[in-house]
Amino acid sequence: MGEPFAERLERLEREAEAGLAAASDVTALEAWRVRILGKSGLLTEELKRIGTLGADERPRAGQLVNQIKRRLEEAQAARRERLEAALQEARLATEAVDVTLPGRGLGMGGLHPLTHALRRIEDIFAAQGFSWTEGPEVEDEFHNFEALNIPAHHPARAMHDTFYLKAGGLLRTHTSTVQIRFMETHEPPLRIIAPGRVYRSDAPDPTHSPVFHQVEGLAVAEGIHMGHLKATLKAFLEAFFERPLSMRLRPSYFPFTEPSAEVDIGCLLCGGKGCRVCKGTGFIEVLGCGLVHPEVLGRIGIDAERFTGFAFGMGVERLLMLKDGVPDVRLFYENDLRFLRSLR
Ligand code: PHE
Repeated sequence: MGEPFAERLERLEREAEAGLAAASDVTALEAWRVRILGKSGLLTEELKRIGTLGADERPRAGQLVNQIKRRLEEAQAARRERLEAALQEARLATEAVDVTLPGRGLGMGGLHPLTHALRRIEDIFAAQGFSWTEGPEVEDEFHNFEALNIPAHHPARAMHDTFYLKAGGLLRTHTSTVQIRFMETHEPPLRIIAPGRVYRSDAPDPTHSPVFHQVEGLAVAEGIHMGHLKATLKAFLEAFFERPLSMRLRPSYFPFTEPSAEVDIGCLLCGGKGCRVCKGTGFIEVLGCGLVHPEVLGRIGIDAERFTGFAFGMGVERLLMLKDGVPDVRLFYENDLRFLRSLR
């Protein structure tokens, strides 16, 4: 018959309590629950066995099993709570965030030096009453050459190493195209700048890039003369380079201006004494300009007896290279962040 019912149950309770104390995590605890309190657990088996006892023993035995069952369930719940709390604590400890640590810092983007320079140039001319306009980069021979007094076979075409497109047309070699486009659709008086990309089939080297930026300027009105041009450019250059400058106009030639000039400024490095940058001359060339050729005005339908104009064109990369001491124009197109950040 084995040991009496009550003794067996007491032993079962002690063993169950020991097993509970030994359950060191939630998984072990669950295994314990199944083994003792589960559908075919040890205690449940005892409950079933009550039916085999004598009628006088049954009530006491039932009471005993139920008491033990309740105690073990309570003990189990308490143990589960402690284990879960410990688990939670461990999780919090490993996932802890030290809110007192300094932040990681957001990588701030910035404008490309050329974009920045173009915006500055626009601002400076805006203060002189110039409005901003644009023209297409894919052009035709008329706007890039003919309308600017550069007919086919004119030697000046050879100076423009032009990219011709298979589909017809070409990539503009200068922003002077926008002079024509603007005058086609506007009556004088007018005063505009036209910044944008231009293309020349040059092999890249420290001073040549097949794509670069120009800013074109054009003013047409009654009575415009070289004095206006010179004052406008001096004001611009001093604002751009942020210092007083000596400036000179050196006679030159462009088919679309008459007279034409190159603008030199006193060398930024040596101040005019002569150095490596200015090749000992004390001056550096910064842009081309002149009075709009009467032929150009006339061809576009502007009365050249009544109106005169000035125009200028400058290379943006060249101006920035001079201002910030950039040794190689290709740096503007290689997107090396160390270089880009150095010009902020
Ligand atoms: N288009 C000329 C060039 O690219 C510059 C220029 C513009 C000269 C306007 C005179 C007037 O070199």
